[in-house]
Amino acid sequence: MQPVDLVIDRLASVATPERVLVDAAIAASAGRIVAVGPREEVLRAVAPAHGAVEIDGRGLSAIPGLVDCHTHAVWAGSRIDEFDRRAQGQPYEQIAAAGGGIRATVAAVRGATEEELTALTVRRLARMRALGTTTAEVKSGYGLDAASEAAMLRVAHAAGRSAGVRISGTCLALHALPPEAASAAAFVRTAIDEILPACEPYATAVDCFLERGAFSAEECRPFLEAARARGLALRLHGDQFSECGAIPLAVELGAASVDHLEQTGRDGIRLLAESGVAAVCLPLCALYLDLPMPPARALADAGARVVLATDFNPGSAPAESMLSVLNLACTRLRLSCAEALAAATLAPARVLGLEREVGRLEPGYAADIVLIADPDWRAACYHLGEVPARVV
Ligand code: NIG
Ligand code: FE
Repeated sequence: MQPVDLVIDRLASVATPERVLVDAAIAASAGRIVAVGPREEVLRAVAPAHGAVEIDGRGLSAIPGLVDCHTHAVWAGSRIDEFDRRAQGQPYEQIAAAGGGIRATVAAVRGATEEELTALTVRRLARMRALGTTTAEVKSGYGLDAASEAAMLRVAHAAGRSAGVRISGTCLALHALPPEAASAAAFVRTAIDEILPACEPYATAVDCFLERGAFSAEECRPFLEAARARGLALRLHGDQFSECGAIPLAVELGAASVDHLEQTGRDGIRLLAESGVAAVCLPLCALYLDLPMPPARALADAGARVVLATDFNPGSAPAESMLSVLNLACTRLRLSCAEALAAATLAPARVLGLEREVGRLEPGYAADIVLIADPDWRAACYHLGEVPARVV
């Protein structure tokens, strides 16, 4: 019998998410799952150590800790005024072109200390965790010089340690052109020569905003190639407002994902399905900016790897809830509850290269467990604004 320090017994249902178990138990030791299955089987296999935590799971269900693989959770300042202007009809892209949007947040982040940024980020990550997110990717992209970009990623890791959220850092150097840049080409050089090396200790991936008004495919290419040569994974913001070559470039360079996809048409869907590059859908952002929803159903039917994330950021998605994303996936993206849960757990874990660590409730995986206050685990998708019973 294996000694364990956590047992959750009599769970009405457990979505691992590949299998759904009823009347089940989960046992863990030192933060790792040791056993999960029908309760008699689990209780026969393990022995709770002295002082072990024993949770009565009656009436509850369990899902894996949610994995939010696309956030911009580190920022300072306020974009509420911009939000109100959008409410009065001014488009997001027009506000950005006039120096607002991302550039407004860059000015605020450059003016904040690392301590101030950390305090703001701890509060946001704590809310994410209370809503069931136990792993989050956090991007830089509001610093746009080597020191501020590296500081953003340091802040993400420090805040993650305080809030109890596992962090994966991404260097989003090509997010917007900073005011001091002489040209896009000059800034791409700065990103390759200065920002990338400064961020590398805190990042496992890089990202680019490939969009009209941001960076073109040809501007992104050398930065992505330099990152790939350093062994970093590649992500792209693509097809948010226009299709301008993000998917073909991502496929060519073997990127981990293309994210957004609000404008993606048939060719893009086919390319993603054939290549295995993950299709990260951000329905909160589409809702918030009143854009078309990404074609998640068509992507799934074509065989693409559909992934869900919040895009949590101050401009286009000030929302930290993966539970809201699960709900939108079922109501607006036409995914089933099972598809949505997989797209919020094991699929994003793979995008982050953490597929052996998180995203599943199986032996050997991190014991990141979200308990839902309903015997049917699908309540996590069904209930608008549901708060988990408990995050273990
Ligand atoms: O994913 N599209 C680019 N970046 C963010 C928005 C950032 C902002 O508006 O501050 C996004 O939507
Ligand atoms: Fe984003």
